[in-house]
Amino acid sequence: MNPEDLKIPTHVSIIMDGNGRWAKKRGMPRTFGHKRGAEVVMDICRESSDLGIKYLTIYAFSTENWNRPELEVRTLMTLFGRYLKICYDEAKKNNMCVRVIGDRTGLSADLQEKIREMEEGTADFTGFHLQIAINYGSRDEMLRAMKRMMEDYKEGKISAGDVDEAHFGSYLDTADIPDPDLMIRTSGELRLSNYLMWQHAYSEFYFTDTAWPDFSREELLKAIEAYTMRDRRYGRV
Ligand code: FPP
Repeated sequence: MNPEDLKIPTHVSIIMDGNGRWAKKRGMPRTFGHKRGAEVVMDICRESSDLGIKYLTIYAFSTENWNRPELEVRTLMTLFGRYLKICYDEAKKNNMCVRVIGDRTGLSADLQEKIREMEEGTADFTGFHLQIAINYGSRDEMLRAMKRMMEDYKEGKISAGDVDEAHFGSYLDTADIPDPDLMIRTSGELRLSNYLMWQHAYSEFYFTDTAWPDFSREELLKAIEAYTMRDRRYGRV
């Protein structure tokens, strides 16, 4: 497909799966796959912005991932710490707003501080929006939203009549972020895994067998091509 015929989605969400299997295939520990995966995150962020995508949301750590071996969890947390620092530097250079979604109260004080600094420092940037889901689960997000709504109700700030889709959405971690147009999951699994279940209500899904550490601009373009074709088929362009 000619690049000018591509319909670029405004918001792409990604489940970055397959780091462990990718490493195992190479006789390396799973953590090796995560390290390579972190480098790919940086590349794909740049490529997305270059292609004209405005919002990218990546699933870095789910509420279920705490059940992984301790060393793997520790390595991932160390990688997030390092990545947040690099990401903040890139964001300042490239007018990029970065937000973390998920229950950050479950993260270390050090990570929470890094997140706070980065979010405050990039809040006014508008060139590109990166959302990183850490300690994120859709059910958890909806329950947290519901609890906050109930508090507001108790305090008389809202009434039952105020509650509609937009109002509920404003209590979610993704408030003010448009819903994803295209969801990509790598490495052959065909599940949503508790990821943005409210926000993905109308998204197109694209699954690839490519493992996340092998994901590239070419793979991203293939997903966007599939997205463009689907849109044509349903006569929405
Ligand atoms: C799934 O692969 C991947 C994860 C649980 C973590 C995703 C993390 C990264 C891509 C690296 C760090 C991210 C940032 C933002 C710095 P898996 O371990 O489930 O692989 P498997 O299915 O082959 O076992």
